[in-house]
Amino acid sequence: MTHAHPARFKVESGGALRGSIAIPGDKSVSHRAVLLGSIAEGTTEVEGFLESEDCLATLNAMRQMGVVIERPGPGRVVIDGVGLHGLEPPAGVLDMGNAGTAMRLSMGLLAGQRFDATLTGDASLTRRPMERAATPLRLMGARIETDGGRPPVRIAGGAELHAIDYDLNVPSAQVKSAILLAGLYAKGTTRITEHAPTRDHTERMLRSLGVAVGSDGGRVSLAGGQRLHGGRVEVPGDISSAAFFIVAATLASVGAFVIEDVGVNPTRTGILEILKLMGADIRLTNPRRFGDEPVADLEVHARELTGIEVPRALVPLAIDEFPVLFVAAANARGTTLVTGAEELRVKESDRIAVMATGLNALGIEAEPRPDGLRIVGGAVHGGRIDSHGDHRIAMAFAIAALKSTGAIEIEDVANVATSFPGFATLARRAGLAIDEVR
Ligand code: S3P
Repeated sequence: MTHAHPARFKVESGGALRGSIAIPGDKSVSHRAVLLGSIAEGTTEVEGFLESEDCLATLNAMRQMGVVIERPGPGRVVIDGVGLHGLEPPAGVLDMGNAGTAMRLSMGLLAGQRFDATLTGDASLTRRPMERAATPLRLMGARIETDGGRPPVRIAGGAELHAIDYDLNVPSAQVKSAILLAGLYAKGTTRITEHAPTRDHTERMLRSLGVAVGSDGGRVSLAGGQRLHGGRVEVPGDISSAAFFIVAATLASVGAFVIEDVGVNPTRTGILEILKLMGADIRLTNPRRFGDEPVADLEVHARELTGIEVPRALVPLAIDEFPVLFVAAANARGTTLVTGAEELRVKESDRIAVMATGLNALGIEAEPRPDGLRIVGGAVHGGRIDSHGDHRIAMAFAIAALKSTGAIEIEDVANVATSFPGFATLARRAGLAIDEVR
């Protein structure tokens, strides 16, 4: 499959954004729609589903466990839910590809099944830490083995789960969600205490499918045994994908650049807060809701940016947006300092190291720290970047070309399809001089 994807982006310097775009559906919400729709009773109809490799990995895994899922048209998915106890043993290993969300949420879902299952993934995913999810699930009674903390993950069926009261020591929505999903199968009420808010799409979608989920000052709770009822899920545009265009339009746009139908769940809008602190002009218009998720159009005007010390409290709320935020910082006047972001080291790549190396290659002073990065804004040169197969690194450096003095070539970009199929085409239409080289 990979050979059909471009190997490289070549982005000429300059250009400016104009007009408006709509971006593909939210990755986090799309994963959850398939997982929760599968264990609901009755039919769940999803609109705006992100047809990316990551979300299709989740969809295929659920099909392998006997769930009938149809895709009647673009962005449309119809799931014939089997109920909490209707999944069937998969015939083989479940391959989650590049998708951490697919793997960690599935660990929670599978912990309470009657059958055994094994989860694996690609070269990036099999390097990522899985004990953070396995540990609390074991406390609930699950029988899970990892390979030295990493995939493949083996989950033994038939475990009797019981509720736990868990202190979420890593700010991770994936771990929180894994515990909540296992909590559906556990005896008693599962409680999770969060020290910093992380994305709450699981809680919202569970509620919209009829499950009572408590949330009170950083404490999330759910009683086991509750049944889900199929329903309609309308997926908002992914703010993490919009982020590339928000930064792009801030760097170079003609008039107002509009991004339509963007999910603005407050646990995801750290990018907007951080950019505004740097001087960006981003206006939310036409606020409305897609189910339980708030949505708006974003109107962005070009502005000069200033370096800041990013407030630590905003880090988990912008965790996926740091690659492109670092590009914004490289173009800002003065120094930007990010701390408290050690999670960036265990994403699809080590995003602190890979971004520092890439920015250095373009002539920018970027000094990695154990938990962040210090970037001194300056003149971005042209050059060649290795994305290390990380979709968001590849897209972030494409945006950097808007203000660079020469062309930027980015290697190893096939994985852009894991979260943002059609990125290059959309970016070209919006005003970037980007070509895909196959
Ligand atoms: C996600 C949670 C975040 C995020 C990832 C998607 C989710 O990961 O980085 O892209 O859908 O729950 P962590 O929970 O590991 O921070």
